[in-house]
Amino acid sequence: MTAEEMYQEIILDYYRNPKNFGTMQHPTVAFRDSNPSCGDIIEMQLEIKDESIRDIKFLGKGCAISIASASLITEELKGKNIQEIKNFNKEKVLKLLAIPISGIRLKCALLALKAVKMAAYNYLGENND
Ligand code: FES
Repeated sequence: MTAEEMYQEIILDYYRNPKNFGTMQHPTVAFRDSNPSCGDIIEMQLEIKDESIRDIKFLGKGCAISIASASLITEELKGKNIQEIKNFNKEKVLKLLAIPISGIRLKCALLALKAVKMAAYNYLGENND
């Protein structure tokens, strides 16, 4: 098995058994975004206390890459300071996914990132530009 095949297996595993998938009772902030080209939706929910991301969950429906990406992002951000989301970017998400992603699949990979960034910016009361 090549390294790429191995990472594809990991992505499929995340798709079948997503981490931090579900609904929170009382999220501090939540944001839902969709990919207009396919209609897939990811909602990110965050529980924040003293700027610390105490809990993070997501729900929605999407392809293997969008769900794997959402899972990896939640695992990465849990316990971090909310300010760190500002520096969380496309390169970091692609590094977490660890397989080459380009073209139309890029939107799949970045859907959860958009949602979590918007949630954070709403919380921090800043504009996303
Ligand atoms: Fe819809 Fe990937 S095909 S997010």
